[in-house]
Amino acid sequence: MRIASFSVLVVLATVVTAANTVYFIRHGEKPADGGNGLNAQGVQRSQCLRTVFGASSPYNIGKIMAQTPKSNGKRTRPLMTVQPVATDLGLSVDISCDRDDPECVAKAVKAFDATGSTKNILICWEHDNLSNLAEALGMKRPPTYPDESFNLIWTDPVPYTNIIFVTSENCPGLD
Ligand SMILES: *[C@@H]1O[C@H](CO)[C@@H](O)[C@H](O)[C@H]1NC(C)=O
Repeated sequence: MRIASFSVLVVLATVVTAANTVYFIRHGEKPADGGNGLNAQGVQRSQCLRTVFGASSPYNIGKIMAQTPKSNGKRTRPLMTVQPVATDLGLSVDISCDRDDPECVAKAVKAFDATGSTKNILICWEHDNLSNLAEALGMKRPPTYPDESFNLIWTDPVPYTNIIFVTSENCPGLD
């Protein structure tokens, strides 16, 4: 009980509310056979993210990005992971950037900043490519997202030179 309320406090204390903060996440859990899409836990995580990043959360999300899905069904996990919360928030997920095009992501983030928005940006991608995205935005030596984790949130505030927090989505039953 004590541990639970302590971790809630830690999470609240580490949410940055300044405008245009980027939150990087990985897609949800995948099938053991390496097939496309999410497994049951991944679907559960996508539902959990409705609470984590939803309108009642402190994250104040105004833009959501996911890598472009392939027409053969590959690379769809990031979109599937954020679609439920995007629907709740009335946002269409920006899937205009290819997995391997970090400059495209950096441009989209800067374009959003330039709108004068006071909201924040959620970016869901393949974990191997998250470092590249952080680097394209301005961080010199970004961390590596661990292969075994699906729950980490990297907080990258303006001017995007540093991931200042790594926190957990704390999804019940998963994390
Ligand atoms: C993205 O990650 C994949 C491995 O999952 C790798 O093959 C690819 O080169 C990476 N893209 C970039 C731009 O580094």
